[in-house]
Parts: sequence; C-alpha cells; structure tokens
Amino acid sequence: SGMTAAWSHGVYTCVLLFVQMSVVPLGVWKLLPRMNQTCGETELGDQNRVFASRGSNITLPCRLHRQHGMSFGSLGMRIKWTKLSADESLEEDVLVSMGFHKKSYGSFQGRVHLLEADDDDASLVLSDVSLDDVGKFHCEVIDGIDDVIHEVTLEVQGVVFPYSPRLGRYNLNFHDAEQACLDQDSVVASFDQLYEAWRSGMDWCNAGWLNDGSVQYPITKPRGPCGGANARAGLRNYGQREKSKSHYDVFCFTSGLKGRLYWLVQPNKLMFAEAVQACQDDGAEIANVAQMYAAWKLNGYDRCDSGWLADGSVRYPISRPRRNCSPTEAAVRFVGFPDKKQKLFGPWFYMEPNRVLPGTKRGSSKCSPMGQPKNRFRF
Ligand SMILES: *[C@@H]1O[C@H](CO)[C@@H](O)[C@H](O)[C@H]1NC(C)=O
Repeated sequence: SGMTAAWSHGVYTCVLLFVQMSVVPLGVWKLLPRMNQTCGETELGDQNRVFASRGSNITLPCRLHRQHGMSFGSLGMRIKWTKLSADESLEEDVLVSMGFHKKSYGSFQGRVHLLEADDDDASLVLSDVSLDDVGKFHCEVIDGIDDVIHEVTLEVQGVVFPYSPRLGRYNLNFHDAEQACLDQDSVVASFDQLYEAWRSGMDWCNAGWLNDGSVQYPITKPRGPCGGANARAGLRNYGQREKSKSHYDVFCFTSGLKGRLYWLVQPNKLMFAEAVQACQDDGAEIANVAQMYAAWKLNGYDRCDSGWLADGSVRYPISRPRRNCSPTEAAVRFVGFPDKKQKLFGPWFYMEPNRVLPGTKRGSSKCSPMGQPKNRFRF
C-alpha cells in the first residue's frame, strides 16, 4: 500500500543516516525520535500506530533494510523487541531473536513470535492483547555495527474515567490507584489517553494519577476553582508526584465491552448484598464502574435508574440529557456510596458474552440490552 511505501522510504532514509553514524556505539537509538525529524518523517509516528481490540491478536510491523544482502538470521544479526514504560524511562524486554534462538520475556512469554513473512520481516505478532500492552514498542535490529530502532505504538480503543473510592476524594497514592483501576477491570490511563478524552470533551475538576506517575486533570470549560477562569482549556498538570506519599484520585482506562450491561426492573429495592445475588441469579454479575462507562461512552447507553455497582457505588448512565436525568450534560452520574444495608436501589447487571442465558422469561422483557446485536437476546 501507499502507506507502507512511504513508511519504508522514511526508514530507509534513516538507515542511510545511521550507516554514516555507525561509528557511534550502542545507545545511538535513544536519539531516534529526533532522527525521525532529521529525516523529514514527522508523519512516521502516526503511520506507526497500530490499533487493536482487547483479546485480539495483532502484528506490530518492523522491516529490515539491509545494505549488503545480509539475510535474516545471518550471523550477528539480532532483533530485539522491547516495550517502553509509561514514563519512557525504562525498556522491558519483549522478545530477542538471534538466528534460530528466540526468547520472550515476562508477560509476553507464550504470547509473542516473529512473523517472518519474508527475509526482511521482523514484525512481532502479539496475541491476546491486554490493556497493559498499550504503549510504545521498539524494534531494534542490530546487524554488525548497524543498529536501527523502529518505534511502533499500540493502542486499544476505550474510555477514560475518573475514579475515587468510598473513602472519598484524594485518598489514593499511586499504588492504591493502580489497584483501584485493576479492581474495575481497567488500568491507570496514560497521558495520551487522557488527552484524547479531553479532546472529545472530558471536563473533570479533580486531579488524578496517570500511569507515568504524573497527576493531571482535563478542563474544557475554564473556571476559577479549576486552574483559573482565564487559563486556557487543557490538561492541568501537577507534574510528577511522590508515588507513595501523595494522594489523589485516578484516571482509569478500559476497553470496549465484550459482554453487555443491562438493567432489570426489580419488584423491590435491594440492599447491596441482595443486588449481587440478583445478578448471580440471572447468570450475570454485578457490573463494575468501567463497564458502565464503556457502555455509556462507546455504546451510547442511556438509562435514568440509579443502581448498585460492584464497588458499592450507585450510578446511572445518561447519553441524552433531559430534565431530572442529568439535564445539562451526557454523563455517568454518580449518586454516591450509600450504606450497603439500605434497600434503596436495584443492581446494574453485566453478562459475559457467550454465557448461556438461564430461563429468559424472568424479567427479560424489561431488560435493556446493549452493546451486542439484538438477536443475541430472546425476548
Ligand atoms: C490468536 O493466536 C493464538 C495463537 O497464538 C490462537 O490460538 C488464537 O486462536 C488467536 N486468536 C484469535 C482471536 O485469532
């Protein structure tokens, strides 16, 4: 394709530059982001974005551009795939290949192999993509004294949501924040993910951790208490904070739903434990906060019923603002963390895909399915 051709051209130009500089020993690759600009390839970054969905298999492209007909797997040729940490200060080994010897590392063990579609192909096949895989990968090809680094960014479509626990606002250090997101089947959001959320209208006046250890919040409607009425819209940045001692909220990131969120009208209001049981009785589980945000943001789910979620909070998703239901904005409305013993709400249900539906007479005509083709449901 044209894209591939442009991409190859850019890399090739860079390779030539590298050959001239190849007296500079290892470590040169750290300069590559600037080298890209030298090569006039500012669009290279965009072309090296790969979008995956959670659980899918994906190929991260990398091609060799050899000068002297050296073949892949030839003596001394080494391919090393690494992943950059969120703050880009560390590299985690993903896979190393030297001739026939290949080794994968950490969470990538058993999930990665080289595509090797032809002699110049160093692309990485990654299976069962997880939210933790999102980020920048480096494909480093060391061939004799040449050392070329190629960068690929893996992204997953999803939604960013702010989170604070029952304890209330500004109660999470960085490690608590990681756990809080994990408990909601999500990960701490990256700067890029929060930035995208801000660009699509997110406005939130509580500061939260991001996965690079910084604390920020997105403002689209500048106002006094949120960084100043005269400041421009944007991400307000508190900078890097001390991970153990500083306490904030967190921005979590989750991907689109595989299953579905739904609501069943209950004859009676339930206490929290009864709500959990009601979901199990329906062959489902009580929904978590991430599932509600995904249903709301990615599927336009809208229902004006306050309901229990798995963390003990009560919320409802509104995508069509109206009187008595989030009149001014589309939002997941937060009611609070009520006393779990109070019989005040119904539950939000979440059902995994491919679960066998139990007897569907019960309540099914009142159920509001979403996120999956309608014909999955027998009404
Ligand atoms: C992904 O690849 C694995 C092998 O690595 C395979 O077992 C699985 O079926 C693939 N999944 C999809 C969704 O293609």
